Amino acid sequence: MKELLPPEARDYKERAHEVAEQAVRPVAAELDRTREYPWSVVKALRDADLMGIWIPEEYGGQSAGVLDLCVVVEELSRACGGVGVAYAVNALGSFPIILGGTEEQKQRWLPAVASGEKLIAFGLSEMASGSDAGSLRTRAELDGDEYVINGDKKWNTNGGAASIYTVYASTRPDRGSRGISPIVVEKGTPGFEVGKREDLMGIRCVPVHELHFRDCRVPQGNLLGDQEGRGFKNAMMTLDRARPGVAAQAVGLAQGALEWAMRYTSERQQFGQSVMSFQAIQFMIADMATSIEAARQLVYSAARAIDAGESGASKYAAMCKVFASDVAMKVTTDAVQLFGGYGYCRDYPIEKYMRDAKITQIYEGANQIQRLVIGRALTKEATGLSSMLDVKVEHFPEPAEEKQEPALTGAGAEGSKS
Ligand code: CAA
Repeated sequence: MKELLPPEARDYKERAHEVAEQAVRPVAAELDRTREYPWSVVKALRDADLMGIWIPEEYGGQSAGVLDLCVVVEELSRACGGVGVAYAVNALGSFPIILGGTEEQKQRWLPAVASGEKLIAFGLSEMASGSDAGSLRTRAELDGDEYVINGDKKWNTNGGAASIYTVYASTRPDRGSRGISPIVVEKGTPGFEVGKREDLMGIRCVPVHELHFRDCRVPQGNLLGDQEGRGFKNAMMTLDRARPGVAAQAVGLAQGALEWAMRYTSERQQFGQSVMSFQAIQFMIADMATSIEAARQLVYSAARAIDAGESGASKYAAMCKVFASDVAMKVTTDAVQLFGGYGYCRDYPIEKYMRDAKITQIYEGANQIQRLVIGRALTKEATGLSSMLDVKVEHFPEPAEEKQEPALTGAGAEGSKS
């Protein structure tokens, strides 16, 4: 249903598809095995003018929308989920600057990200602060004209590869989430160290690291914006724009797995015919394809709503993330099933899709948190419903008296005898 996309998004999708087929698919299995960073793909994306497209034109980007970002991530993830997130996480890392940075800060950091010369990462989570992001403990204290940062970050995607890090630290611990501030830390700053690399189940080509800050001094001018305490909202607004990217990664993974499953089941012969010719298999594939299309359209409409500046961005972002990632997990698991024993071994590409899909239900807010976000939004909406549904409801109707079934007579009775 390509024609449903606006022309710019269609163009981004086609160019990303080209990169995915030429530069990603041939190396996906090898990158998964070696855990090497996909630098060759970054080069291909730069050559195709696809890096940093979401960054405004005045800072070297293309002012592309969330929808454009999603279609690129979807196409890359169709070939490799790890590459999809390696690309998308640059949006997650740079949205805080786009949303909260001063003009000077945007000029300072965004052009290098827009060109792909520098990669960027997002440092919010900590060992004891995941879903409860407001409870983070990393501390930043102003000392003269410098912030002194102390603490540790966890699950930093792109950790080893990035040059710029948006780090959330508490500048006023007594103010809880209102005391959190976003601060940019550049690679090589004394006191900042990229720590342990996690040995992940999936998305293995992307380095996910711990970050350590020990009396790490950065200029006061690295505080995003000109006021402390705006970090939590900045992080939440960032996630509202980035979560559709995770959802698009999920759609791409599910689509990629479906295509492999269709190819395998149409070639695999059992009982003298292709496995796909069995109705039981066709029904599975039909359900997989239907749920993917539903997820895709939800991602696109959520992205378009965010691009249009509609209210309810958090709800739409959460809805598409939760739905698409659950679809990806189900579809990739079913795809493994369709490969039978071959699906369970690394000779075939399908098990990687299932491993890559799992993280989409977890990162950028576990799906339980997405449901919480949706539930809270609906609770607010419910307060407006009493004026709209202006019908007086005195009481619920009494349950109908239980009636005896009448005895069957005539034709019905005859029928029941036969
Ligand atoms: N936009 C703007 N402001 C928002 C907001 C939003 N979407 N959501 C909340 N806020 C504001 C609230 O209005 C409130 O403002 P006031 O202080 O002025 O009242 C403030 O933020 C606190 O809001 P809540 O009371 O709702 O906050 P909470 O503590 O209940 O938490 C939460 C809400 C939704 C659970 C949030 O903590 C959350 O999203 N948690 C998940 C975090 C997450 O996604 N982490 C993943 C990090 S990235 C990653 O996985 C690694 C990677 O590199 C890929």
